[in-house]
Amino acid sequence: MEGSKGKDILVNNSNKEMSEMQTKNQVEDSIIQESLLTCIDLANSDLHQSALLLKKACLDSGFFYVINHGIRKEVMDKTFEQSKKFFALPLEDKMKVLKNEKHRGYTPLYDQIPDPENQVQGDHKEGYYIGSEVPRDDPQWDRPFYGPNTWPNPDVLPGWRETMEEYHQEALRVCKAIAKLLALSLDLDADYFDSPEMLGKPISTLRLLHYEGKSDPSKGIYGTGAHSDYGMITLLATDGVMGLQICKDRNAKIQKWEYVPSIEGAIVVNLGDMMERWSNGLFRSTLHRVILNGQTRYSIPFFVEPNHDCIIECLPTCQSEKNLPKYPAIKCSAYLTQRYEESHLKFSSYKKQT
Ligand code: OGA
Ligand code: NI
Repeated sequence: MEGSKGKDILVNNSNKEMSEMQTKNQVEDSIIQESLLTCIDLANSDLHQSALLLKKACLDSGFFYVINHGIRKEVMDKTFEQSKKFFALPLEDKMKVLKNEKHRGYTPLYDQIPDPENQVQGDHKEGYYIGSEVPRDDPQWDRPFYGPNTWPNPDVLPGWRETMEEYHQEALRVCKAIAKLLALSLDLDADYFDSPEMLGKPISTLRLLHYEGKSDPSKGIYGTGAHSDYGMITLLATDGVMGLQICKDRNAKIQKWEYVPSIEGAIVVNLGDMMERWSNGLFRSTLHRVILNGQTRYSIPFFVEPNHDCIIECLPTCQSEKNLPKYPAIKCSAYLTQRYEESHLKFSSYKKQT
């Protein structure tokens, strides 16, 4: 009896060890894997062919690459160089342009915590937001995501503002080209998203990011915690240092994370939650995060959302009697404000948005 009991325990223990190991290996295997994403050639004159390819990518993960996007290498390199120069400034100087109530300016280390359930502290990154500017005499000038930007002192960083403005313009042009393909892939007119209430006057935000350190998911330490983006389209330029991971099935028992490698000359694009809502859940806004390996990493996401007042509700081509709208309508600015407030720390200089 003793013996067999002892044996049972041994068997049980080794089973337990085995299953723990399997789980560990499964997690490790999944982290090593690289994702094979679709590449959309923005110079392809056959828009319908591109839209078809894009549709496949959007149904699968909403993550894809764009090539021949028209942003020249010199422009991209200059933007990264200037970004590095800003983050290399003494903290005291960076704090002079701390993020204001219009979501523009510097966000220090740990400012953002997108996945509080799994993060012990905020993201191991610092950032800088540059938003859309509408002229002072525009009736919407005082809206939370419009208005003037805050800039570092031009004597300290000459040409910095001009570089960022140029990249902002270029990135918006690329996003508008992607929006045309998205419209076609949803059986809408190519210019569907170009109306004034949509991308005619968008909320578009350039964000510079600087990561340092080593992530340890088992300790809740991440470059960027797991999240999906809030808006319509995100264009993500990186310096080539590995780190971005996606999880296509957020509800899986063991979440499978895949690296998204950088490809020279290509830009990673992903859809955000507004696109998922517009398409009635057909197009995916996939969970992603950044895992750091100890190397310094710079990235430049560019987020595009429609006009402040745009109501995001199920598109006409994404609903039928058998497929009723799944999400209630939301107003773009209210939704964005809520998402920003949920995921960022509040500084004393932040005024409560209404
Ligand atoms: C983001 C994001 C990824 C990266 O800012 O929303 O997912 O590689 N960034 O920095
Ligand atoms: Ni993101």
